[in-house]
Amino acid sequence: MTTSRFWHGFADMHVVKDREVVIASGDGATITDTNGKTYIDATAALWFCNVGYGRKEISDAVAEQLTRLHGYSSFGAYTTDATLRAAERLTSLSPIPNAVVFLASGGSDAIDTAGKLARRYWDVVGKPNKTLMVSREHAYHGMHALGTSLGGMPIMQAGYGGEPFVNEVVRVPALDVEATAKLFEQRRDEIALFVGEPVIGAGGVIPPTETYWRDISALCRQYDVLLVADEVITGFGRTGRMWGTQRYDIKPDMITFAKGVTSGYMPLGGVLVGERVRAPFWDEPIAGAVFRHGYTYSGHSGAAAAAIANLDIIERERLVERVATLEPILDTAVRRLQGAPMVGETRTVGLTAAVAIKPAILEKDPATVEKVVAASLHHGVASRVLRGHAVHISPPFVITEQQIDAMVDGIGNALEDVAAVGAWN
Ligand SMILES: Cc1ncc(COP(=O)(O)O)c(C=O)c1O
Repeated sequence: MTTSRFWHGFADMHVVKDREVVIASGDGATITDTNGKTYIDATAALWFCNVGYGRKEISDAVAEQLTRLHGYSSFGAYTTDATLRAAERLTSLSPIPNAVVFLASGGSDAIDTAGKLARRYWDVVGKPNKTLMVSREHAYHGMHALGTSLGGMPIMQAGYGGEPFVNEVVRVPALDVEATAKLFEQRRDEIALFVGEPVIGAGGVIPPTETYWRDISALCRQYDVLLVADEVITGFGRTGRMWGTQRYDIKPDMITFAKGVTSGYMPLGGVLVGERVRAPFWDEPIAGAVFRHGYTYSGHSGAAAAAIANLDIIERERLVERVATLEPILDTAVRRLQGAPMVGETRTVGLTAAVAIKPAILEKDPATVEKVVAASLHHGVASRVLRGHAVHISPPFVITEQQIDAMVDGIGNALEDVAAVGAWN
């Protein structure tokens, strides 16, 4: 067997270089590998393939755009007609009234953009000491230097020399309003922004309490802190509403998005920016109020075409409503696994779930979830590990009820297989 020359993300290449799972095609909620084996895609790849695989309508729209004009600069006065159409469409969907949009290539770019823009905002409005960024334990905000520093999973920060990449970051417990209020009081006048995922995703599918986001929104207003909702996963329907912001009554100044905006047909991310933050840069005559930031592919025409075609499908096929309908069906199916070996709790929000392994089992064998994921492949289900403790479920919105049952049965069979050979038996 030849050893791969491709360096995978988040992989132990000692192992993976000879054990790649190579996907060759996709259709709806399924993917097929180069050996011809088909799997239910339990995770919509990396939470992005919301409209499902094989959408010719999107690839045709991209091909047409690339043939006419594949891209141009969006620095200075330049942009493209496709970029402007995507900006109109995205801002018309925004839950922030009168929003404008800054485009980028993915979620990590979006987070960098929001963090820099918040600090630039405070600088131009005469409060340059507001530089601190508050994030949450278990958070994931991508893997650029800022996102790595904002992240709340210690394993992602370990092994880089002991220092965070960006120093002005403080983390609070994920759902603790009181601890957040205490920090806001202690560091009054220093805090630029608070950032959080409406539902913590990669950190283990952790939903908020009923009142959490209303309270955090109020605190941010009270202490004059900009609120950034990181909707890279939750945006465009994953929670059963177009935005997590709407489901949880969040009042953000900015929203970061990526993934579901194109369902991954082209790489795209961005930040929706509300009137307050935009005003000094667009509307108010403040000398030097320019945001010197941007990426070569900000507003890329092909990505813009993919976004528009993808959003057309989501709206025409009422896929957000479909997620709301499927939520209780997924929840009921996943709860069945509470009776399976090794399973502790299960958590479901929208079309997203985590199947957590009991802590005592993980203590004996921290690789348990990895083994369950590997065994799931044999049972025709492609999934992955969330924060070392849970099996990740977030299928394409087009998954059928039968496929939900088959997916959960496959994971159940994998749990049985792994438990059967486990040292604790
Ligand atoms: C909430 C959140 N923010 C940011 C990111 C980073 O996005 P990307 O991997 O596109 O850079 C992710 C990726 O999973 C995410 O889940």
